[in-house]
Amino acid sequence: MADQFKNHIDGKWLAASSGKTFENRNPANRDDLIGHFPASDTADVDAAVEVAKKAFAGWRLVPAPKRGELLYRVGEILKKYKEDLARIETREMGKILKETRGDVQEGIDCAFYVAGEGRRLFGETTPAELPNKFAMSVRAPIGVCALITPWNFPLAIPTWKLFPALICGNTVILKPAEDTPQTAGRFVEILNEAGVPAGVVNLVHGRGEDVGAALVRHRGVQLVSFTGSAAVGREIASVCGQHLKRVSLELGGKNGQIVMEDADLDLAVEGALWGAFGTTGQRCTATSRLIVHRDVSKKITDILVARAQKIKIGDGLDESVEMGPLINQAAREKVLRYIEVGKQEGARLLIGGSIYVAGSCANGYFFQPTIFDQVKPNMRIAQEEIFGPVLSIIEINSFEEAIDVLNGTRYGLSSSIYTRDVGRAFRAMRDIEAGITYINGPTIGAEVHLPFGGVKDTGNGHREAGTTVYDIFTEWKSIYVDYSGKLQKAQIDNAE
Ligand code: UN1
Repeated sequence: MADQFKNHIDGKWLAASSGKTFENRNPANRDDLIGHFPASDTADVDAAVEVAKKAFAGWRLVPAPKRGELLYRVGEILKKYKEDLARIETREMGKILKETRGDVQEGIDCAFYVAGEGRRLFGETTPAELPNKFAMSVRAPIGVCALITPWNFPLAIPTWKLFPALICGNTVILKPAEDTPQTAGRFVEILNEAGVPAGVVNLVHGRGEDVGAALVRHRGVQLVSFTGSAAVGREIASVCGQHLKRVSLELGGKNGQIVMEDADLDLAVEGALWGAFGTTGQRCTATSRLIVHRDVSKKITDILVARAQKIKIGDGLDESVEMGPLINQAAREKVLRYIEVGKQEGARLLIGGSIYVAGSCANGYFFQPTIFDQVKPNMRIAQEEIFGPVLSIIEINSFEEAIDVLNGTRYGLSSSIYTRDVGRAFRAMRDIEAGITYINGPTIGAEVHLPFGGVKDTGNGHREAGTTVYDIFTEWKSIYVDYSGKLQKAQIDNAE
């Protein structure tokens, strides 16, 4: 019988109160049943919020450096189980082991980086305008945070949200994606092993429509942090707007890599291959548009096609495999629909465009690396997020046109330019509308100590990671201490 996994509420492992469950299967092999997980609903969310509220009363008073010590321990334990976690991730998410090891490493980096913040979390002091008066601002925790996380980085993204939330003194309810619940469960076990007190971290599995929606609506939840699609992000933002609830959103991308005629072409091809086909194109930072100067487009296209054809597709647990499956059937259908859209719009399909069923791959959601050229900037395949191994090549005639094309979508997460011209590189850094810009590097590979997020429809102005994430998870409180012993009236008595 397949394993039965549980929610984690108030330090206890519990089934959904309804007793209902959902299945989790390996996307590389649908016959491989990973287990049954609780299909939770409002009742489970209510219980978790109650517990998190109670735990907040104590956790917020634990000195931040002590909370940091706990995160150092979490980092050490994550290191110990790195390989184990990577294998769990590959089995339920599909990306290759090298990448899931990277995903876990990102979580480890995040643990150590955020742990140190326990001895910072700096506020400000500033002179008061009146004599014998002291003024400062400090960060205060917000309360109960709902963290709704995606399947493409099953460990790293939960850590980006959960560690900063905890260091600031908040308590959390983690609602992981239905496609990668096992990694989240293992992560919570590790937090317990490190000694996170009961009720501080609660895990509620289930569907977005049930658990996610209940969390977003719940009056006891002060903050929602969500990574996922723009469509769902909009819904969440509108409910949070009604409730005047803080919400941080990391949504889609349509990231472009520019290749100018002066670029190191081999380097540019390496970057495009990794950016477009790494993680089977399922990163919000993935390269989905290659914006190439016409003088080098033929050469680049030829090398790219030759290289992409050699990518070894298969089960990510096989160390020799370079590209795993898509996450599920719906994802594969979506990619297939976009292939048709691309063809109908008049783009030329150079390679791929079909599901991949060779050998043992017939049992999974595999897809061929796909490249279109003759793509026009306004075509749907150049505008909408496909979230699969599909690269659209757009030819341009000048640097200015390249920037216009790159900026010409509703998203603005990651971006890249390959050029040897320093002036162009600096103009690109200034003029590209994106939260992240790489010079001579692919659009993927952000590091945890820099702000992560995007402009336009990619989000709502927040930045995870970096030093900016603490602005998501704290409120500012201004404090005035008057030690004059008399009533001093600000502004008014200054004017006298
Ligand atoms: C994502 O795709 O949601 O920058 C996150 C990167 C990774 C994180 C991607 N470090 O590609």
